[in-house]
Amino acid sequence: MRLDYYLAHAANLSRKEAKIAIAKGRVLVNGESKLKANSPVTDLCDVILDKSPLSFQQNRYYMMYKPAGVVCALQDDEHDVVLDLLPHEIQKELKIVGRLDKDTTGLLLLTTDGQWLHKITSPKHDCPKTYLVDLADEITKDAIEALEKGVLLKGEIDLTKPAKVVSHTEKQISLTISEGKYHQVKRMLAAVGNKVEALHRTQIGEVCLSQDMALGEFTELSPEQVALLA
Ligand code: URA
Repeated sequence: MRLDYYLAHAANLSRKEAKIAIAKGRVLVNGESKLKANSPVTDLCDVILDKSPLSFQQNRYYMMYKPAGVVCALQDDEHDVVLDLLPHEIQKELKIVGRLDKDTTGLLLLTTDGQWLHKITSPKHDCPKTYLVDLADEITKDAIEALEKGVLLKGEIDLTKPAKVVSHTEKQISLTISEGKYHQVKRMLAAVGNKVEALHRTQIGEVCLSQDMALGEFTELSPEQVALLA
């Protein structure tokens, strides 16, 4: 791999910061300091940045079929947390990619890669998330139009970004949004006078919840799936 890529991952630098560190001679690879951003390195090389040795660990990426009743937190005094559903050796350094409410089911991503997580969760990157929403009342044409244009959530000053609605039945829709405000889907439906009865996330970007997964199960993402969200 390239040295700037190695440094970005092993020292949590941006690619630009990594290139600057290399150009300033702050990096040694196997004792050598005449290096370029594209100098080849392997995970077996001795790499030192500012006199501190680095080690390269590949990032890990998982999808989980989150069941209801567990919370998206690393620890909780009252409830089970999603990390409890994973073996201990996998839990290390894992971060949850965005939050689902305790009663929400469906696609949850977990990773050790902070930059990848940021791309999915930051509103700047507009990564779409799709939810299957069961409603208490029939969805109206006006409500669909309002959701698609943007609605004002209680306590907010800006409208939500335009959403996409697909109506499956009178009381079931798919809603795709590219923001992740607190309880956003429930608040959006409340803003159009309806109520969410059940919420299930089916898709993030181009990555769908695997059809053959059982509730509570997890699986490693393929490199292609990781790349789809990068
Ligand atoms: N919006 C919600 O209201 N709840 C979730 O869990 C996810 C999105």
